[in-house]
Amino acid sequence: MHHVREIMDEVFESANFISIISFRKTTGQSGTLLSDTNDYLIWHAKNKSSVKFRHLFLPRVGFGWVNYDYVALPGGIHRKMTKEEKANPEFLPKGSRIYRRSPLTSASSSETTSMVVEFDGNKYLPGKGGWKTNQRGFANLLAANRLEAYGTTLSYRRYSDDFPFFPVSNAWTDTASGGYGVDKIYVVQTNLRVIERCLLMTTDPGDLVFDLTCGSGTTAYVAEQWGRRWITCDTSRVATTLAKQRLMTASFDYYKLARPSEGVGSGFEYKTVPHVTLKSIANNEPPTQETLYDQPLKDVRKVRVTGPFTAEAVPSLHAKSLTDIEKENQGSGQSVARSGETSRQAMWRDELLKTGVRAKGGRKLEFVRVEPMGGTRWIQCEAETRDDIPQKVLVVFGPEHAPLEQRMVENAWQEARAFKPDILLFCAFQFDEEAAKDIDELKPEVAGMQLLKVQMNADLFTDDLKKKRASNDSFWLIGQPDVEVRQIREGEDKGKYQVEVMGFDYYNPKNGNVESGGIKNITMWQLDTNYDERSLFPSQVFFLMAGEKDGWATLAKNLKAEIDLEKVEYFSGTVSLPFAKGDNSKIAVKIVDDRGIESLRVISL
Ligand SMILES: C[S@@+](CC[C@H](N)C(=O)[O-])C[C@H]1O[C@@H](n2cnc3c(N)ncnc32)[C@H](O)[C@@H]1O
Repeated sequence: MHHVREIMDEVFESANFISIISFRKTTGQSGTLLSDTNDYLIWHAKNKSSVKFRHLFLPRVGFGWVNYDYVALPGGIHRKMTKEEKANPEFLPKGSRIYRRSPLTSASSSETTSMVVEFDGNKYLPGKGGWKTNQRGFANLLAANRLEAYGTTLSYRRYSDDFPFFPVSNAWTDTASGGYGVDKIYVVQTNLRVIERCLLMTTDPGDLVFDLTCGSGTTAYVAEQWGRRWITCDTSRVATTLAKQRLMTASFDYYKLARPSEGVGSGFEYKTVPHVTLKSIANNEPPTQETLYDQPLKDVRKVRVTGPFTAEAVPSLHAKSLTDIEKENQGSGQSVARSGETSRQAMWRDELLKTGVRAKGGRKLEFVRVEPMGGTRWIQCEAETRDDIPQKVLVVFGPEHAPLEQRMVENAWQEARAFKPDILLFCAFQFDEEAAKDIDELKPEVAGMQLLKVQMNADLFTDDLKKKRASNDSFWLIGQPDVEVRQIREGEDKGKYQVEVMGFDYYNPKNGNVESGGIKNITMWQLDTNYDERSLFPSQVFFLMAGEKDGWATLAKNLKAEIDLEKVEYFSGTVSLPFAKGDNSKIAVKIVDDRGIESLRVISL
């Protein structure tokens, strides 16, 4: 934590540090020494002097009432409570008010606050400092029956109902995961209440919230709930798929808008509570109204769902340091630099030879030789399969920190043609969806070779992980969506289309054929019924692996009256709803499997 604080101090400057919040994450005990039950939030502002902050209040309970030992009984008697009454205040006569005796003196004084005060026939002086109010204030306190003698000085009766709340501090004890009744959908899912509190403290409806590690999308979910705009991102496609499902199938309370004609940016209507203070009584003013920003008023006749959002895969740019570039350009490195080989690629090549490529159902594409290739720009190595009739394979490795792009597919294929390989293998940590589509669509009849996509295991980045791994799955073949489009021949939807997802097609290294792989591992599929060749706008989204308690089923339950339950059942299936041909005459189907691997299939109608 202190290292993170140091980094934050460096980025935001230590003068903009605001607070470290500790929050309870579990109530359980673990370990042999002190158990670790808290997590920490470090809060810095871009500029502390102009930071936005909304005080949040929690109901004052338990220890919050320390020193509230006195009671004003309905008949006008004021006395100390008995032990039993303190333990069970509900046994006090109806109309009793609990209070504490608060000091009326303050360390500073002025001419108007250092006078002698007479009360009940006795005279009181403020001691070294002064009183907290002046002569007139005392008259008002007296009229309000708020004064009480306390030994040799005077005190102020502070009633528990003056303001039965306390401002949230930097110790959050009510955030233990179990307490909030939410099932986790992601191993490292953050507690909703923690994110909610951060958001409510520092933003207003309509503000923009950014969470750079999306995970299951808790921040986006909370932002949707509270009318904030949001942006989030993640390196893991599993995370973004989970987040999409969570957002698309969520339903939220409808909060009343402060000024409906201005939209959510005008804020919500909140519950407010009077805050009676010594000052308000002494000055004979109405108490200030505190806004409870976590208690907006609800319109129970309405339900909200997540608003439209876009999901974009951005190729991640990788900046090389000058030293790296110099190293590459020095000495014997020259020829290597020209062919684009890095030391990583040499390692991947060795690994490919050692482990081969895993295909469907335990089958493997194995090699007797994988060697670097000289003089080529896009292709890194040449290999030979371990078959009775060996196949010639050329291998392209995608970039380390970015998806393999469409341009690389075209260039590598053009380059490969001169060598007449049987197979051109594209190995990458991530495929740009257009690149994946091109690899799938370049069939052997046209391409003159079999183009295949191979997913590289992210463990290949970490030498330690690679050594420790028991399984040899460093490379596995990615299937391509097996999709069927049908035109409906009769009934009310006659002439419309319907799509069925049959699974993934996989290359079978045993016989060199492409075979169907079934639907078991499909987490989600999306259908754009009028694809413009640029962006996917899914108009139908299906969650195949969602259980009964998640996916569209929950939303359907929450929106019972609004939607057609029969249709909702479709959305955990493999067949789309009927749709009409759009003006682009093209559809796109994107399938995401349980490893987060995406593939796109574009079909002309
Ligand atoms: C602790 S989880 C976030 C959990 C999230 N708050 C939730 O409630 O589900 C951290 C996430 O950061 C992602 N991540 C790791 N490195 C990243 C990076 N460099 N950029 C973006 N996301 C990253 C991980 O994939 C993981 O999903």
